Amino acid sequence: MGLEGWRVFSAATILGILFFHGFCLSEKAPNYTFVHEATSAPDVSFYDYIIIGGGTAGCPLASTLSQNYSVLLLERGGSPYGNPNITNLNAFGAPLSDLSPSSPSQRFISEDGVINARARVLGGGSCLNAGFYSRASTSYVRDLGWDGKLVNESYEWVEKKVAFEPPVKQWQSAVRDGLIESGVRPYNGFTYDHLYGTKVGGTIFDQNGTRHTAADLLEYANPKGLTVLLHATVHKILFRTKGRSKPLAHGVIFRDAARIKHKAYLKAGARNEVIVSAGALGSPQLLMLSGIGPEDHLRHHNITVIYHQPFVGLGMYDNPMNAIYVPSPSPVEVSLIQVVGITRFGSYIEAASGENFAGGSASRDFGMFSPKIGQLSTLPPKQRTPEALAKAIDDMSKLDAVAFSGGFILEKTMGPLSNGYLMLRQKNPNANPSVTFNYFQEPEDLQRCVDGIKVIESIIESKSFSKFRYDDLTLQVLLNMTANSPVNLLPKHSNASTSLEQFCKDTVMTIWHYHGGCQVNRVVDEDYKVLGVDNLRVIDGSTFYDSPGTNPQATVMMLGRYMGVTMLNERLASEKSN
Ligand SMILES: Cc1cc2nc3c(=O)[nH]c(=O)nc-3n(C[C@H](O)[C@H](O)[C@H](O)COP(=O)(O)OP(=O)(O)OC[C@H]3O[C@@H](n4cnc5c(N)ncnc54)[C@H](O)[C@@H]3O)c2cc1C
Ligand SMILES: *[C@@H]1O[C@H](CO)[C@@H](O)[C@H](O)[C@H]1NC(C)=O
Ligand SMILES: *[C@@H]1O[C@H](CO)[C@@H](O)[C@H](O)[C@H]1NC(C)=O
Ligand SMILES: *[C@@H]1O[C@H](CO)[C@@H](O)[C@H](O)[C@H]1NC(C)=O
Ligand SMILES: *[C@@H]1O[C@H](CO)[C@@H](O)[C@H](O)[C@H]1NC(C)=O
Ligand SMILES: *[C@@H]1O[C@H](CO)[C@@H](O)[C@H](O)[C@H]1NC(C)=O
Ligand SMILES: *[C@@H]1O[C@H](CO)[C@@H](O)[C@H](O)[C@H]1NC(C)=O
Ligand SMILES: *[C@@H]1O[C@H](CO)[C@@H](O)[C@H](O)[C@H]1NC(C)=O
Ligand SMILES: *[C@@H]1O[C@H](CO)[C@@H](O)[C@H](O)[C@H]1NC(C)=O
Repeated sequence: MGLEGWRVFSAATILGILFFHGFCLSEKAPNYTFVHEATSAPDVSFYDYIIIGGGTAGCPLASTLSQNYSVLLLERGGSPYGNPNITNLNAFGAPLSDLSPSSPSQRFISEDGVINARARVLGGGSCLNAGFYSRASTSYVRDLGWDGKLVNESYEWVEKKVAFEPPVKQWQSAVRDGLIESGVRPYNGFTYDHLYGTKVGGTIFDQNGTRHTAADLLEYANPKGLTVLLHATVHKILFRTKGRSKPLAHGVIFRDAARIKHKAYLKAGARNEVIVSAGALGSPQLLMLSGIGPEDHLRHHNITVIYHQPFVGLGMYDNPMNAIYVPSPSPVEVSLIQVVGITRFGSYIEAASGENFAGGSASRDFGMFSPKIGQLSTLPPKQRTPEALAKAIDDMSKLDAVAFSGGFILEKTMGPLSNGYLMLRQKNPNANPSVTFNYFQEPEDLQRCVDGIKVIESIIESKSFSKFRYDDLTLQVLLNMTANSPVNLLPKHSNASTSLEQFCKDTVMTIWHYHGGCQVNRVVDEDYKVLGVDNLRVIDGSTFYDSPGTNPQATVMMLGRYMGVTMLNERLASEKSN
């Protein structure tokens, strides 16, 4: 099989990784005077705006509103600064494999059986993600009725702080050229724009491999207008109902690291607001815990119903990700996503290569596709038990270093169309709700996956990619590869190597772009105001129907800025007219 060849390059690969990507310095903590532990907060405090969730949308929103108003930003996690697990590109797997309660990542497993992760840190998902930065298409922006000029200004505001051009090395270049050779054209070069064809996108990792995050957007804040509290978990939004036709959000209850309760209220002022930016799991969960959701479900959990809203928690989407591992006879660089093929049939092709180290230690890891972080495509989702996961991790630890020379070419199914729902399991906001995504329930999603896998096959077989594949490993063999190895993509159904449909279903993983649960025109209106109550908005990825662009974070950060500016402008106009 020519696999002996792996050995020859192993030492060089490992040295190369250590030398070029080894142990970068972590980013220096910025001089934020407004970030404090929640334990230092008073029992009761008052602000113009209270934002729940210091994540990818919450940080840019807080910075923007702080320009003219007093803002409280409550984040349940800690600071990302000074943590090399977050800051270093080659530690990608470390936070995702840290299952402790203090980890910046909280694992969750959907009812479908796919293992997934959600952020628990200031900066949110931008502290955990693979860094790829790419804008939404102009048609996405137009269809939502967003103001295109303000959208562009908001993207630029974000990009000035956190977006970079990646250093495209040999392996990523081969994927890029393979895409072009496979007909994913034209080649659009390096651009943030969403254009059909092949391109190099942006990244939040700088030239030194150091991650920049949404927390860096707090550098724009007015320090006099902003208070950020860490380890502040919001348990409930408070409403005033007496003598009102609509419940009015007027404060929140949160607990600090010592589990001490605090209250924060909106100052008197008709236009002061509470804003939920707790992400696609956190936002619908917190609305339900606060009494906004399907009444039967709330009653079942003994939650006082504030507003019966059957759509909260509906429309939960997670884009399926499927990948093929391609072992390489030549050394490969460590890379996260840099190149993307934007096809016309609704599949995005991306890739990642090389060995990642968990937490700077020399333990071998497949990075974005490691069982340590919960990726386990060797078994159909329902069979991904804790025992199966432990076995895959053990198997991986026994692999020869040479097995890590290679890369994954993945496809993300656009949209998707298939979706499910979120429900509470219990009243503790720290516990994960139950969530069902119904991967591939819609036949169009399955077709997009199959078509995507065919493009991946064509890339592997392209002339451009020849240096990074073993010629005697056919696609059939790759699909069916290496028993006893965690990169074995041999699914349990024996027909999966011949049926790409079955391959898609059996090897489905997440690319962590899950969204929905508080969608526009169902839970919030077009200004992101929660229907049925006053002074409450939701601004984050939970409002989306489709995942924007090829990867969502650019648009999530943009939305935080965009809505902050929109709210300031609306308020200025109304105050002028009064
Ligand atoms: C591993 C991984 C890889 C990814 N790769 C990419 C990529 O390469 N490119 C890309 O564009 N996108 C990527 N994504 C997706 C992207 O990062 C997310 O879509 C985005 O960060 C979601 O932003 P959000 O603001 O909706 O939620 P989050 O960023 O998750 O923010 C929600 C915040 O709210 C906090 N919170 C929740 N509940 C409470 C509460 N009750 N009280 C207080 N705080 C609370 C959370 O701790 C969190 O910080 C990836 C995501 C992950 C996890
Ligand atoms: C941090 O900022 C404050 C206020 O702007 C300033 O007084 C202080 O000197 C700064 N500290 C450092 C270490 O730069
Ligand atoms: C980094 O990640 C490793 C592995 O998951 C974990 O053991 C370690 O505690 C983490 N370090 C920090 C500073 O979070
Ligand atoms: C926004 O920028 C994109 C390019 O990134 C451009 O195609 C589009 O026309 C711009 N929209 C507006 C309204 O300026
Ligand atoms: C990369 O590191 C060098 C040397 O420490 C530093 O001068 C440079 O500013 C860093 N680049 C970025 C984008 O931070
Ligand atoms: C709801 O309250 C009732 C009566 O106090 C109790 O029996 C029941 O267990 C509670 N249910 C939940 C889900 O907490
Ligand atoms: C794939 O694996 C199955 C089950 O182990 C085996 O029967 C089949 O021959 C393999 N096919 C190829 C092309 O390797
Ligand atoms: C593959 O085999 C499984 C189990 O026998 C079966 O349920 C499934 O329908 C088959 N898939 C295809 C596409 O033939
Ligand atoms: C912010 O406040 C300043 C000073 O009060 C005022 O001049 C400006 O118009 C305000 N801007 C916005 C966007 O509210």
